[in-house]
Amino acid sequence: MALGRTASQDNTQQSGPQLTLPSRCFTDPDIYTRELETSFRKVRQPAGHAEDVAEPGDYLTGRIAGQDIAVIRRRDGVLRGFFNVCQHRSHRLLKGKGNLKVAITCPYHAWAYGLDDTLRNAPNADNVCGLETADVSLQSVAIAVVGPMVLACLDRDVAPFDDLYPGVHREFNAFAPRMGELTFHRRSSATLACNWKVALENYGECYHCKHAHPTLVSALLDANNYRVELFERHHRHTTSSNPDGITLYEVDADDSDQALNYANWLIWPNYSFQVNPGSNVVVFQFMPDGLEHTIENIDWFFGPWVPESERDRIVEDHTRTTCRKTSISARRSRSVSTTCATTAAF
Ligand code: FES
Ligand SMILES: [Fe+2]
Repeated sequence: MALGRTASQDNTQQSGPQLTLPSRCFTDPDIYTRELETSFRKVRQPAGHAEDVAEPGDYLTGRIAGQDIAVIRRRDGVLRGFFNVCQHRSHRLLKGKGNLKVAITCPYHAWAYGLDDTLRNAPNADNVCGLETADVSLQSVAIAVVGPMVLACLDRDVAPFDDLYPGVHREFNAFAPRMGELTFHRRSSATLACNWKVALENYGECYHCKHAHPTLVSALLDANNYRVELFERHHRHTTSSNPDGITLYEVDADDSDQALNYANWLIWPNYSFQVNPGSNVVVFQFMPDGLEHTIENIDWFFGPWVPESERDRIVEDHTRTTCRKTSISARRSRSVSTTCATTAAF
């Protein structure tokens, strides 16, 4: 269990302190390869923003677990995901995001797929021996929407999100009761010089907060009230705002019951949903980029109650109070490979 103020659930009682992973888990290329194959290709990953696929015909594209995928809203309102690859000679089908009126047409030889993934037309197909166009369809991926995010999984048989992470979706909506009014503001990205688990472990505790993020603690969050609860595949972090008041930015306490509170759900293996005081939502994702590098994406969402003119300042103030984590992760990354690295209380 993470150090700091914590609480256990009945199903997560520990007989002793939770230990960090052995150092080879951060440095062994074979372990890294297995992680990609057994974890990242079998779990949902943030793939885009729900607001980009709100209307029939809307689509977005993304890359998860090293594969290009696309998500499209069909005419019947159902959200579908598929590998963004033509079934003819593997040309990429869609770019960026947008709206399709009729069909997905491959830019290479113009095979055309309906919004239901089936091949509708292949030029000259009647003259190609053995080609049964009725048998051709795009390869689907599993899709779910949680909060402002579209999640995709390359394994179409993955269990429902609510089964894997019980309570998270409901709690997230409860902490951000005006979720439907949130819109994407901006993404901050950085490449961290560390294994993805080093970056993620930093988000598994707030033991470092008072020391590493003094402004965050003095101007926003109550570190003394910080709770980390562990579940089978996720953590829940909660606290209230600083009892002396929030000075980092203005918060309307009447906005919702949770307006002054903070919550974060760290979803196995590599992303989190966070609701800050003021009901703004942040989604963190840590994508492995080789054994020793991690791409961190941070997506910010605000509701109409936050003036446009204030949003960048809030993001920048948050970044200023928390950016030391980047160098912390890089320094720790160098240290975990030393010969004296040991497991320790998390
Ligand atoms: S690769 Fe798509 S139509 Fe040929
Ligand atoms: Fe931190």
